[in-house]
Amino acid sequence: MTDDQHADLNHEHWEKLARFHGTGDDSYYDLDLLRSGGTLMGDEELAAIERASGGDGLAGRDVLHLQCHVGCDSISLARMGANVTSVDFSGTALERLRELADQCGVHVTMVEADAAALPVSLSGRFDLVYASIGVLCWISDLDAWMSGVARVLRAGGKLVLVELHPFVTMVESLDPLVVDFPYGFDGPHVYSGTGTYANFDADIEWTTTQYAHSVGEVVTSAIGSGLTCTHLEEHLSGSFNTGQFVGPEDDDRYRLRLGVGAERDGRREPACPMPVLFTFIGEKQV
Ligand SMILES: C[S@@+](CC[C@H](N)C(=O)[O-])C[C@H]1O[C@@H](n2cnc3c(N)ncnc32)[C@H](O)[C@@H]1O
Repeated sequence: MTDDQHADLNHEHWEKLARFHGTGDDSYYDLDLLRSGGTLMGDEELAAIERASGGDGLAGRDVLHLQCHVGCDSISLARMGANVTSVDFSGTALERLRELADQCGVHVTMVEADAAALPVSLSGRFDLVYASIGVLCWISDLDAWMSGVARVLRAGGKLVLVELHPFVTMVESLDPLVVDFPYGFDGPHVYSGTGTYANFDADIEWTTTQYAHSVGEVVTSAIGSGLTCTHLEEHLSGSFNTGQFVGPEDDDRYRLRLGVGAERDGRREPACPMPVLFTFIGEKQV
């Protein structure tokens, strides 16, 4: 398959999911909660925004939400007082966001574009770029994505990236343990399946192309694009489940435990939690 064919496959997939998500058949996109003033952002995203803004919040800041999907987090960012521009390559996703923004009474500017080829008109316009959960695996050219992010930021602007840890995407099942995806980049992988991460039983068949990017590759690409890493965190638990994690455990967190657990004081601890998410914050150099 050519690069264009891989891209078309993924575009078709996301058009389909954008029509389905948040229409009532999944609990992941609880649009009623959003419409009634709640947020669907996880603790990890909220903490990353707090950290990146130095505790000052986003009021009056120009924020680009990259790969916004149906735009739940765009709404939350706008409610924080940010001037939000949302980018996705799915016209259907942006149409859903337009409806949702109207229903929530917030304004969001929408741009239909490839995340790895951001329009020149966006260059140097943003204080913060926000991208979260399930964005990088669709991107073949990580350096193009990262240099686009750096280009649209003002000097001193920040990238907030909260993403599935590449370790998680390696694991197809825990019992039996099936590891069927690489940790780092090795080109395209074409996959087929049914359902979506928001509703495993949904009557949806899909074939997509996905790409692995290791944490090292992400950080190196960011640095190479002119972003200084100010924070890198690998989370051993998550506040939500995209399907690969297990839980919730007693503390309401989801984990992916492997192995027999470490020994301490002659007793075996629970199996070790593996990294499930990572947060990267990068600052554009002045
Ligand atoms: C998993 S979703 C992001 C989910 C988001 N965190 C949320 O919870 O709604 C991935 C998004 O990336 C978009 N996408 C995938 N490849 C893209 C590309 N090359 N350019 C722009 N958007 C892309 C899809 O249309 C989809 O909306």
